[in-house]
Amino acid sequence: MVSRVIPVEAFDLVIFGGTGDLARRKILPGLFRRFVGGQMPDTARVIGASRSDYDDAGYRDFVRSAIDEFAPSGRTEDRDDATLDAFLERLHFVTIDATGDGGWKDLAKLVRKDVISAYYFSVGPSLFGALAERLHKYGLADDDSRIVVEKPFGRDLASAKALNATLAEHFSESQVYRIDHYLGKETVQNLMAVRFGNMLFEPLWNAQYVDHIQITVAETVGVGGRGAYYDKSGAMRDMVQNHLMQLLCLIAMEPPSRFDPDSVRDEKLKVIRSLDPVLPHHIVRGQYAAAGDQPSYRDDAENERSLTESFIAMKINVSNWRWSGTPFYLRTGKRLKSRASEIAVVFKDAPHLIFDQEAGTHRNILTIRLQPNEGMTLGVTIKEPGPGGMRLMDVPLDMSFADAFGPDAEDVPEAYERLIMDVIRGNQTLFMRGDEVEAAWAWTDPIIEGWEERGEAPKPYEPGTVGPEDAQMLMMREGRRWREIKG
Ligand code: BG6
Repeated sequence: MVSRVIPVEAFDLVIFGGTGDLARRKILPGLFRRFVGGQMPDTARVIGASRSDYDDAGYRDFVRSAIDEFAPSGRTEDRDDATLDAFLERLHFVTIDATGDGGWKDLAKLVRKDVISAYYFSVGPSLFGALAERLHKYGLADDDSRIVVEKPFGRDLASAKALNATLAEHFSESQVYRIDHYLGKETVQNLMAVRFGNMLFEPLWNAQYVDHIQITVAETVGVGGRGAYYDKSGAMRDMVQNHLMQLLCLIAMEPPSRFDPDSVRDEKLKVIRSLDPVLPHHIVRGQYAAAGDQPSYRDDAENERSLTESFIAMKINVSNWRWSGTPFYLRTGKRLKSRASEIAVVFKDAPHLIFDQEAGTHRNILTIRLQPNEGMTLGVTIKEPGPGGMRLMDVPLDMSFADAFGPDAEDVPEAYERLIMDVIRGNQTLFMRGDEVEAAWAWTDPIIEGWEERGEAPKPYEPGTVGPEDAQMLMMREGRRWREIKG
């Protein structure tokens, strides 16, 4: 594989919340990787802004230790001190009062007028309005400036609408980049390449040939350390409304006429609007119990009566011509058996079996693995080699990216790296549009309201398993089964 790196134009990226957890773990190490990869030009600058009283030198030390701790392992040969120093030179810091006037004039002096300016709101949504207003008041934003906002984008339809309205007072939609980091994952984009770059799959990609689709995002981590946030969200708000919904959209959408931001996002929006309301018996919620000396969800959340789910499995119907009759099963949870995310497209049985009963029935399954070991597998049925008659077996046509691309696979940018570079390039394809987020909440709200009205408690499950037994039943009673969760 020949990697082609095209440096982006000169930019000033201001990170509000520049000393926060996301900046430390993802944004700053990601920028460093792009610098090492030759995509962030020498003319670019990153300006951390927060309440902390760092000067440039102090901030550079802070970032150096963040990179030591969190920069992914790839390209170790390039991570010499000189490269790191050259990157750190690009960094500045301004102490700022997001809701007052402190620091804004200093920031205005620092941000250049003749390069792209981008403002990353890596702060709670309650500060979005104050920041947006001050960017204008202090002349920091022009029609070409970009703002980047993180999830959670609201906690229901009303709050998402309010946030959209606040941002719209100061910025046009074409300037707002709502991050869902799942869209920046390599395999997620590959989904579009596979669907729309090949003749092979698209004719079969519908209810006539596909029995069902499974989307699994399984994690081994619990919610310890972020229990206060998580307990107000649960798996539905934290994962399903955004990450799993985006995966579902990319699988289910019609081919856009062009690969441009609005054509793609128009098609995703149509999918969300085609989702049927979900019946209560098509959802299973779970909460991890304690195991040995490992805390339970309720311990981690410090809420002994919590009714918040750390696991969810559900059956979703997409009501349109393409998918009517083909269910989508989604599941995600914390403290499961392995960290494994995959999408499986399970095709129907061949319409007529010409082989003996003993040959068994076999199904083609296209599996798209998001993590770990990104890649795709197409299960095909062949004859078992050797004598003994016509016995069938399934073999995988396997394409693991690590195998196919060798050491170059390490150069594949991580989600945040790619998304930040897209912001600078001004490409919104992999970002959520305001109406998409609102449509996702409009579908999610009644589900959550239903649980709250019924005071429904999630089912406890053993950590290290595949979630509550009822989740297995959700599929089994329809003659289907979940795929194994394998890390
Ligand atoms: C975040 C959620 O958006 O995504 C976390 O808030 C979750 O709860 C994380 O752990 C999963 O991301 P990834 O990239 O590790 O699959």
